[in-house]
Amino acid sequence: MYKQCRINNAVLEVTGYLIHLQITVKLVDHLKILFLGDIVGRPGRKAVQKLLPGMKEEQKIDMVIANGENIAGGFGITPPLMYELFNAGIDVLTSGNHIWNKKEIFQVISAEERLIRPANFPSGIPGRGMGIYKTGNIQVAVINLLGRVFVPLPCDCPFTVALREVENALKITPNIIVDFHAEATSEKLAMGWLLKDKVSAVIGTHTHVQTADERIYPQKAAYITDAGMVGPYYSVLGLDPEKALQKLIYGLPASPDLAPGKVIFNGVLLKLDPYSGKALEFSRVSHFI
Ligand SMILES: [Fe+2]
Ligand SMILES: [Fe+2]
Repeated sequence: MYKQCRINNAVLEVTGYLIHLQITVKLVDHLKILFLGDIVGRPGRKAVQKLLPGMKEEQKIDMVIANGENIAGGFGITPPLMYELFNAGIDVLTSGNHIWNKKEIFQVISAEERLIRPANFPSGIPGRGMGIYKTGNIQVAVINLLGRVFVPLPCDCPFTVALREVENALKITPNIIVDFHAEATSEKLAMGWLLKDKVSAVIGTHTHVQTADERIYPQKAAYITDAGMVGPYYSVLGLDPEKALQKLIYGLPASPDLAPGKVIFNGVLLKLDPYSGKALEFSRVSHFI
């Protein structure tokens, strides 16, 4: 049993020669984590800035994790935009196949612990694939992995690396969130099954379309094939659909402009038991702006 608690307040009263120390300790009975799907460009960032502060307050959310691989114009991450999102209330950014699209990321990825990249990238690559974060006195591990089916990037076996990283994380905390950034539904479902008794959640990202297959396995983990995206709704993965069609039909290079119009804000909300890491409640989040 993990002994973790949060000290709500400590009051020191000095009356004459009498010193009275009153400490109120409240055991935390659950942890609420909001995970946002891939945030796409300026429309996605603005949606986060608009909705997240109120949502955190209303729902009493303890930690916010988001996939940030598309925050810079739809492809990659730059340091100023990353800090814009941290300032908006995101605690941890995960990433994926587009992590290296903007070369400015190399300035910060080794030092910024709140940003992680897939743990199964070949060894020697900058950055880290797992981070341990604190909310109150409770520790949460976040692991990022990249799928290999239909993803043309060199990377190690995500399943082998997942087991290694999870084993390391379990030495520190039972609360483990996995962002599995992958294309194939089958690969994501298989990862959920592999980790169902080990982690708190396996959350898929990368396809930018929220799936309706969220579940909690009886053993421990919540699972969803894809959390969706925060980005332009009438689009192809956030991009202008006309430009996407030009590229798909004619194979000619097209400027990757973001689509105009309304924005969808997708994610999942996880409630877990911080002493066992077991998922208690898991639901999809979807709003339009
Ligand atoms: Fe993405
Ligand atoms: Fe991706």
